[in-house]
Amino acid sequence: MKKAVINDINEDLINTYKTIASRPSELISILQILQDEYHNLEGNEDNKKLYYYQKRGLYNSRKEEQSGQAALFIFLNRTCFNGSYRVNRKNEYNVPMGGYKKPTICDKENILAVSEALQKVEILCGDFEQTLNYADNNSLFYFDPPYKPLSETSSFNSYAKDEFNDDEQIRLKEFCNKLDLLNHTWILSNSDVKGKDENDNFFDNLYSDFNIQRVEAKRSINANPEKNDLGVTLKGRAFRFNLFVRSSQKGFPLQSLTQLVA
Ligand SMILES: C[S@@+](CC[C@H](N)C(=O)[O-])C[C@H]1O[C@@H](n2cnc3c(N)ncnc32)[C@H](O)[C@@H]1O
Repeated sequence: MKKAVINDINEDLINTYKTIASRPSELISILQILQDEYHNLEGNEDNKKLYYYQKRGLYNSRKEEQSGQAALFIFLNRTCFNGSYRVNRKNEYNVPMGGYKKPTICDKENILAVSEALQKVEILCGDFEQTLNYADNNSLFYFDPPYKPLSETSSFNSYAKDEFNDDEQIRLKEFCNKLDLLNHTWILSNSDVKGKDENDNFFDNLYSDFNIQRVEAKRSINANPEKNDLGVTLKGRAFRFNLFVRSSQKGFPLQSLTQLVA
């Protein structure tokens, strides 16, 4: 791959990617301080809690400069409940503290490796539709949108202050249609709502003109962050299946999709 473009609407996530790309050493220094301070509180749950909620408040004030804010983003990701990211309508991060003992907060080697990989990546912050401006005739689009919740109560798509509801899933499909007409290749993954309720044909109907592959991908985010460098384990309860859809014209053989999942 000669060049990649990544995009997300979440400004805090994109600030973190940009900081890893351009100021990895500064970021590592701040993370090392946060890690030392947090690990020193091990055994004292009350103080650990105080520390976590104080850092969460600081993050939500959004008063820190770029690297400080990125360090807080990573700190919260490593210490919160299940490594999840969820904000309210005021864009305040509201995930409670997790129960990990001495989680890795400063993974120096990983940050340096990601920083190097990001040197050939253009990092954008905005709606997915803007990515079309960056395509040429040999581009592959991969979409990893907020998953459609598997039930009314398991609503877990609040990565950004505006909800990614069914209308948004449909708008994304229309964008995929447009890409197809322009002869671009694309792949999209989502939760498999049919795996939960066999009468739920939302994605089967929406993407009936394209190729759908169901992949078993039981997972919960960061269920045990010490076990996996990706911060994702393949064990857990969050989703029974993932759904992969790809453009019909060209694209990847099914085997490549399986490798992508692996
Ligand atoms: C399943 S997560 C993917 C996270 C990402 N792949 C990563 O590894 O950091 C879904 C992402 O979609 C983003 N998102 C929601 N609405 C969007 C939109 N209209 N345009 C672009 N990204 C959006 C969310 O902010 C969230 O980060």
